[in-house]
Amino acid sequence: MSLSPTTIETVKATIPVLKEHGVAITSRMYDVLFDKYPETKDLFSSAPEEQPKILAAAVAAYAMNIDNLDALGDAVNKMAGTHVQTQVKPEHYPMVGDALLIAMQDVLGDAATPAILDAWKEAYFFLGDVLIAKEKELYAQQ
Ligand code: HEM
Repeated sequence: MSLSPTTIETVKATIPVLKEHGVAITSRMYDVLFDKYPETKDLFSSAPEEQPKILAAAVAAYAMNIDNLDALGDAVNKMAGTHVQTQVKPEHYPMVGDALLIAMQDVLGDAATPAILDAWKEAYFFLGDVLIAKEKELYAQQ
């Protein structure tokens, strides 16, 4: 599977917005996530205070490299390693995806057009599938 050119273009166009509002979006995302999916709370019990910042930076880095995902190789391995340590499972990905899209709408308001939300939905699950595959490998090695 690969991302459509429209998705790549749309995601890239949101880079300035993410730089400005990234932390607000990811902070809101955790509120929505823990409210709507309380079963995810325990996974973050030892997460650092700056977790929203870390995630916002990862999201911005992803947007910047969306047409060159090889550049994210080390970052993907690190994320997958941390996810396996904290017992993140494939079924958690739709929860985070849902919370992320709701957070984008809440923070960006009308600027979060249907085209932008669709593109981010596709891009999120694309990266999610890469992480899930890597995590499956790591869980199998345990
Ligand atoms: C495409 C989706 C995702 C991205 C881009 C992402 C990104 C990240 C990043 C960058 C880190 C920090 C890694 C490190 O510095 O070692 C992290 C850690 C973590 N993520 Fe994710 N993540 C995603 C999906 C998920 C999902 C679905 C869950 C489950 C609810 C989750 C839960 C966690 C947890 C529990 C940590 C560790 C927090 C700690 O330090 O204790 N992530 N993630």
